[in-house]
Amino acid sequence: MGEKVRADLLIKNGQVVTAAQKEYPVRGKQMTQLEVIDQGWVACAGDKIVAVGTAEAVEGHVETSERTQVIDAAGQVVTPGLVDPHTHLIFGGSREDEFYLRAQGADYMEIMDAGGGIASSVRATRESSLDELVAFGRQRLKWMLGMGVTTVECKSGYGLDLDAELKQLKAVEILQNEQPVELVSTSLGAHAWPEEFKNDQEGYVNFLINKALPKIKEEGLAEYVDVFTEKGVFSVEQSRRIFQSAKELGFKLRIHADEMNTLGGAELAAELGTSSADHLLMISEQGIEDLGKSDVIPILLPGTAFVLRKPYAPARKMLDAGLPLALATDFNPGSCPTANLGLVMSIACLYMAMTPEEVFHAVTINAAYSLGRSDRVGSIEVGKQADLVVFDVDSYKKIPYYVGVNLVDTVIKSGQVVMGDRKR
Ligand code: NIG
Ligand code: FE
Repeated sequence: MGEKVRADLLIKNGQVVTAAQKEYPVRGKQMTQLEVIDQGWVACAGDKIVAVGTAEAVEGHVETSERTQVIDAAGQVVTPGLVDPHTHLIFGGSREDEFYLRAQGADYMEIMDAGGGIASSVRATRESSLDELVAFGRQRLKWMLGMGVTTVECKSGYGLDLDAELKQLKAVEILQNEQPVELVSTSLGAHAWPEEFKNDQEGYVNFLINKALPKIKEEGLAEYVDVFTEKGVFSVEQSRRIFQSAKELGFKLRIHADEMNTLGGAELAAELGTSSADHLLMISEQGIEDLGKSDVIPILLPGTAFVLRKPYAPARKMLDAGLPLALATDFNPGSCPTANLGLVMSIACLYMAMTPEEVFHAVTINAAYSLGRSDRVGSIEVGKQADLVVFDVDSYKKIPYYVGVNLVDTVIKSGQVVMGDRKR
């Protein structure tokens, strides 16, 4: 046995869901093979995981002192910090009136065409100061962290002019430096047609390509570029142009694809090699086939289908075709005003027939992979960042089962307890 490693934090006796596998992303059938260690131990030093396994395996490997924080997780579940790879975190205002109109039968796209929907959040976001947007984001990240989410992707897209888009992205940058959740920033200037360009789509696409994206790149404010490819919003052709320019500027790509209509968004994702293709409620057979031959991670957002009362994405068909899946909240003021990834996990089981094993891969390692971070987060493995969640139930199978209940007891980010009574 080699030299022992010092442990600053030691979690004992939990049911440890490592979500570790030989290869990432975890595809199709492999998603049913969830690695779980009963009575497992996890040791961390600094911000890293240094040992994981049974008591014997870890005890022989680590050295503790009176300075080691020990967490007894007997009767509890330990998982990787959850990853939410698709949110619209930063926006001004709220749209509860629309929520109730839809509940009475109004249609999402009709509300949008009538000047409501995204456009109303654009007005409220433009009117909000940077400080206000930061304060909104701070509160929402606190909700998310409290539910075990330690990495969150955040899209702009409620500014739709240079100042307001930059303001949203700057809010993300400020939040990254003041709170523990790791943020991944995405520019979604192509989210809707702004009022000023209603009759000049070409002009807006050119503005994004020639002005907005180069400026965002220059200021280092986003890692990804996303487009809402949808009937009445950005056509496949317009999306392709924006993506090609974004790629040339050095951005990685994500796409809102085949959400309301079958448009060929998934096919475009496969063609361009985007990091993810998101929504896919209306994905075609061809789209599934094309994604199967690509490295694109399909991200399903069943909270949106739930809120919009639309048919769910064909998760089982995609898994049977061998695709890797990730899940996200899509947290936004319109189509999905929930930041609760746990609820999304339950909806995925109930309405997309996913198993709890598939769901755990989808909110950990595969979500991390879609964000280019699977080498660092998304599973409990030696050398990875110590992002961990302790749930107050004795089996991971009880997590999606207690629908809508927040079972999180303790959240650890980069080796520090950041949430729960064990914080010190
Ligand atoms: O992912 N589909 C486009 N964007 C969001 C909805 C945004 C909104 O309604 O404000 C979505 O569903
Ligand atoms: Fe979205």
